[in-house]
Amino acid sequence: MESARAAAERAYAPYSSFRVGAALLCADGAVVTGCNVENRSYGLTICAERSALGRAIAEGRRSFVALAVFCADADYAVSPCGACRQVISEFVGGDFPVYFAGRSGEAASATMAALLPFDALRELSRKRGGEA
Ligand code: THU
Repeated sequence: MESARAAAERAYAPYSSFRVGAALLCADGAVVTGCNVENRSYGLTICAERSALGRAIAEGRRSFVALAVFCADADYAVSPCGACRQVISEFVGGDFPVYFAGRSGEAASATMAALLPFDALRELSRKRGGEA
């Protein structure tokens, strides 16, 4: 969560003023961070979670232990958006823990299965075999 907090400081969020950081704990012990990157064409905004995940994959890391999300501009714990839940689920199992916090730093947590129930496409996931 401290890494996610630091990443939120690097958010590019001039449109929402809602700075979010994410930190992925990888199986090899590395912590890979991301922040939201907004765009004047609002729909092209990349959330902190997908920013971290894309960076991890680009670094050759595909096995993850936990995810922390920190929002510097909310008084409540901010959990991943629907799109991010779908994208994260590509690489983790249902028991994967996600921790999320607002500016107080007090974290809530939920498993991936709780965040994305009734995942009908799970059987299409290739993550277990590690195929390209
Ligand atoms: N945002 C994230 O980066 N992660 C979340 O979990 C919630 C939302 C970003 C997207 C956008 O830049 C801003 O927060 C407001 O939605």
